[in-house]
Amino acid sequence: MKLAIIGTGYVGLVTGTCFADLGNEVVCADNDEKKIESLNNDDIPIYEPGLEELVRKNRRNNRLSFTADIKEAVKAAEVIFICVGTPPREDGSADLTGIEKVSRVIAENMDSYKLIVEKSTVPVETNRWVKDTINMFGKNSNKFDIASNPEFLRESTAIEDFMNPDRVVIGVESEKAEKILRELYEPLRTKIVVTNIKGAELIKHASNSFLATKISFINAISNICDKVGTDVNAVAEGIGLDPRINRRFLGAGIGFGGSCFPKDLKAFIHISERLGYPFDMLKEVQKINEMQKELAVSKITDMLWNLPDKIIGIWGLAFKPNTDDIRSAPSIDIIRRLIAAGAKIKAFDPAAMEKTRAELGDRIIYCKDAYDAARDADCVALMTEWNEFKEIDWQRLKSVMRQPVILDGRNIYDPEKMKDMGFRYAGIGRG
Ligand code: UDX
Repeated sequence: MKLAIIGTGYVGLVTGTCFADLGNEVVCADNDEKKIESLNNDDIPIYEPGLEELVRKNRRNNRLSFTADIKEAVKAAEVIFICVGTPPREDGSADLTGIEKVSRVIAENMDSYKLIVEKSTVPVETNRWVKDTINMFGKNSNKFDIASNPEFLRESTAIEDFMNPDRVVIGVESEKAEKILRELYEPLRTKIVVTNIKGAELIKHASNSFLATKISFINAISNICDKVGTDVNAVAEGIGLDPRINRRFLGAGIGFGGSCFPKDLKAFIHISERLGYPFDMLKEVQKINEMQKELAVSKITDMLWNLPDKIIGIWGLAFKPNTDDIRSAPSIDIIRRLIAAGAKIKAFDPAAMEKTRAELGDRIIYCKDAYDAARDADCVALMTEWNEFKEIDWQRLKSVMRQPVILDGRNIYDPEKMKDMGFRYAGIGRG
């Protein structure tokens, strides 16, 4: 099929590339000319394992191309995916001006039937606006359909998630739209959930909110574990073996970050309030997540007494491993709080150094590896569970630190072993 993907952010780029790899003819369009120029030179603006190779392969096969001319991309395609950003506004609601602009361009350049598919995470009823906009600005009376097809891919495993999804959700209002989308996803041989458009829009917000709730739930349990003196990892194992609960996303720690959970929670809270059903449980989910960052700071303070002039080595800056993304990363918030309390920060992350430098500038010291960040430190605080932080030479580490003190913000180390090796150790909810 001939596809146009509008917006070459995370979702757009991965979606376009994977659809090309499945044999479709894909044009990815974006009004950021610089970005398009980079992509046309095989220079991928995001860090995602396997993506660069896949882009290169499909460009060479002439199945994937990039353009700054959105109009041409619209004209050439039968199916158009809207993948533009929906950043949060001050009040938490999603800013949909990007979607409105794209809808107008589509309307003004439709010269045949188009299926317009919304992939960005949007508030329920956005598609009605897209439809109205296209009806209003459409020059010809060409037929079109609107559909919603939310994306569930995770950063760092995005290609795998796209190619082997647990399910594909499509929200449609016509048989034709359903048929096209079923055909497009057929090669993935997965369960396809077909519902109406509002249902599909809601599924995305409900999924992300539920996962965030799971994380905050286990973080709340971890605080109880600290108080009673037991290990949250064992508790998570014990409850997670019940398949109705499931162990995944029961990892206690310094909280969730990233470009989706915090933003989608905010948006969903805002939508529910607007609809007259304030979803207050989600506010508690947010509150617990905020408290986990403060908890990290107080645990460090408990071990070091006063923070002024103490040196804290930070291991991991990205909001999770295998990405360079620091958007809403707990590490950045915690670092800011530690600096405000007078501590000096030395940090290392295998991928996110550049992005952190752009965010924090010279307020912290950037180090070349884990040991460098720990040199002369009074405490090492693990923020992101990269594999390389799991293979530490502890004796070497101890010899470079000023005090052997560890805050394990992701509960990856064995508290007993750490104590046996002479470290003062604190995890999150480990008694
Ligand atoms: C998430 C959803 O998983 C994905 O389906 C959606 O499309 C986009 O948002 P992503 O933001 O890439 O994906 O990361 P994810 O792996 O879900 O992790 C999000 C955050 O939760 C990270 O900061 C991670 O450290 C944290 N997390 C995750 C925990 O604190 N504990 C866990 O058990 C799992």
